[in-house]
Amino acid sequence: MFKQKEYWASRTGLILAMAGNAVGLGNFLRFPAQAVHNGGGAFIIPYLVSFLVMGLPLLYVEWAIGRHGGRFGHHQTTGMFYIIGGSRIWWYIGILGVFNCLAVATYYLYIESWTLAYAFYSVSGVFGEKTLEEISVFFSSYLGTVDNSIISISSAGVFFFIVTLILNVWILSRGLNKGIEVASKIGMPLLILFAVFLAVRAFTLDEGEYGAVNDAIKGLNFLWEPQFDSLTNPKIWLAAAGQVFFTLSLGMGSIHCYASYLKENHDIALNASAAGWLNEAVEVILGGSIIIPIAVAYLGVDWIQQHVGFEMGFRTMPFLFQQWGPVRGAIAGLLWFGLLFFAGITSSLAMGQPVLAFLQDAFKIQRKPSALIFGGIVLFLATPCVLFYSLGSFDEFDYWVGTFSLVLLALTESILFAWVFGMKKGWVEITRGADIVLPDIFCYILKYVTPVFLIMVFTASLIKPEGGNWASALTILRDSGSWTFAPDSVIGNLLHYGIQDTRWFINGVPTKLFITDATRLLLTIVFLIIGMSTVKIALNNDNNTVKE
Ligand code: TRP
Repeated sequence: MFKQKEYWASRTGLILAMAGNAVGLGNFLRFPAQAVHNGGGAFIIPYLVSFLVMGLPLLYVEWAIGRHGGRFGHHQTTGMFYIIGGSRIWWYIGILGVFNCLAVATYYLYIESWTLAYAFYSVSGVFGEKTLEEISVFFSSYLGTVDNSIISISSAGVFFFIVTLILNVWILSRGLNKGIEVASKIGMPLLILFAVFLAVRAFTLDEGEYGAVNDAIKGLNFLWEPQFDSLTNPKIWLAAAGQVFFTLSLGMGSIHCYASYLKENHDIALNASAAGWLNEAVEVILGGSIIIPIAVAYLGVDWIQQHVGFEMGFRTMPFLFQQWGPVRGAIAGLLWFGLLFFAGITSSLAMGQPVLAFLQDAFKIQRKPSALIFGGIVLFLATPCVLFYSLGSFDEFDYWVGTFSLVLLALTESILFAWVFGMKKGWVEITRGADIVLPDIFCYILKYVTPVFLIMVFTASLIKPEGGNWASALTILRDSGSWTFAPDSVIGNLLHYGIQDTRWFINGVPTKLFITDATRLLLTIVFLIIGMSTVKIALNNDNNTVKE
């Protein structure tokens, strides 16, 4: 058994770091778009149910696995799963935890770098007199996608990416207390402050004020207007569960890693609940109250329905802020992109730390070189993500890791914890040192509801039918025995459904399909390298680890 060296310095630091891990770009960019696309006010019902029966319970599980692993000197999922599961197969399943963090960090850091660039642009005044169209084109040229060439690149884009990466590597190299904890203590309060400020401004924006054509409050009504027919639609449940996953950073190996720096009797119940609910408050209250109301005030509900999405924060918001005048516009831009940057960096650090922990645990590499190696690998993997942005390399990372692999990890760990380790021991582990009494019902939810819910989510995403209409797909299955997978179901995606032209090259020029397949190959290779590099360590560990 190795001696564990690092611990969280204070409870505030721990909760802010864990909340910082969860609160990210997903809260401000992904959540509003998901809500609008999936039934507005009715989305919140499947969303809250998913949070209660899957999100919160999984948080307790990940904290408990992490704290338990930390006692044995493991700070990432391979060793932790092995200790809990008692057989080597779990070590290999734990590889997913390291892989997910590394792969998500790659594309997440790229988006994070846009926020840094845009905070800078907001104050430099480049958005000044530009029209909505021009600001959107500005974003495309920032990404380097404006001329439709195969390669997307701009010098500004590369510059801000490198700066963001260096900043992350530097903070990580300073260690848990001086790095992550300090960054969270600065970033989290500031981001909440900035968000409150913008949300209040949004609420009080009335028709006629600064050229607004609607009361901004109309946007809130639109967002929260319940459409109850969506409750029976599995597509919406899938989207809600997916958002809960993403926003809580579940199924990544990241929460496990942070929790491994807890002492054996440190509370989990209260801390995990606090971090989880804090994330929900920031997401539902603040995330839902900025871009939608402001955009509705100027552009109306129909426009939002067509344009809402992740890029809207960059293509549209700078224009809307300019309507408030140059100085107020610059301040609003700085607040908005500043809050996104703080939200992003406290999350990307949480993706980096498990990779560092892996390098330290597995290869005994010191923290500083580990941070540098992490930076180097991210730079390497981000190259295709950036260069082939318009050909879909980035989306491929997001799909396979950001939506598929994390559900797989969560599903396996929920079975590992509740059935292999067993809920009897599991409940003792979760409640040891607890500062609040967790309702016993969570014990049953963890044993039965969470795994079943996850199996349903996982299966549904594997075989989602064409058009997302389950009722008619089931009727067709009954009548004619056939099932057509949706192009965005896992199987449909894997088999390239919906793509007619299957050529890799046209006139010697690589196609989108080629880039897609090449990106998949790259991800597979990364997974195998991480896997193979741990085989020997796993074998050694079998002999050395002191088991309970
Ligand atoms: N929760 C983060 C957000 O809302 C994103 C995220 C997904 C994440 N997986 C993660 C953050 C793993 C840290 C670690 O934006």
